[in-house]
Amino acid sequence: MSPKHPQKGRFVVFEGIDGSGTTTQCRMLSQRLRNAGRTVWTTSEPTGGPIGRVLRDILSGRLSAAPETVAYLFAADRSDHLLGTRGIIERLDAGELVVCDRYKHSSLAYQSVENDPRLVADLNRRFVDPDILFFVDVPASVGEQRISSRARREIYERIAFQEQVRSRYLELLADESRFRVEILDGSGTQAAIAEKIWLVLHEASIL
Ligand code: TYD
Repeated sequence: MSPKHPQKGRFVVFEGIDGSGTTTQCRMLSQRLRNAGRTVWTTSEPTGGPIGRVLRDILSGRLSAAPETVAYLFAADRSDHLLGTRGIIERLDAGELVVCDRYKHSSLAYQSVENDPRLVADLNRRFVDPDILFFVDVPASVGEQRISSRARREIYERIAFQEQVRSRYLELLADESRFRVEILDGSGTQAAIAEKIWLVLHEASIL
């Protein structure tokens, strides 16, 4: 079982398939928090650190690695993200608010398509849980439309793969009882989704 983080801060995570709009929502939330005078650390996975950069090369197809190796690399990048200097744990310890675009549920959903899900669960078991997870839900066809204008495709950006990822997310999140999960209809306007997130964070006493 994953540990609940014992730190003083708050840990908010966004998840979704490719093209669901998690990055936009993270940015809008961070901006609104700053406008309200709150300090927030916005971060994302894969990180910009050394392991995250290798992952970016794998995602773009510049490097290739076996699916199992990719699962290990995402877990190593996450460990670095949590434990590194000024990383997630240090900031939560200091009472900061951390907003993260993708975290361990990305691995549980994406890497489980091509690996034994038990291996992926084992690799991620010891990473702390967020306080709340927002899943921005869009059908794979909507995600596909949104990413279709991008010049280059990453290795997971295929509709059949994204459909499997979405089903895995929904299965995983339906069972999640250790922390709050909020499934958002990602086909609404960005402003409407942002408003809902803001309300939920207050209602859940995260803000
Ligand atoms: P992201 O940065 O959200 O996409 P974009 O390049 O469009 O900004 O994520 C990059 C990809 O990495 C995305 O397809 C999801 C995938 N991913 C995993 O497969 N496992 C993971 O653990 C994480 C964090 C991301």
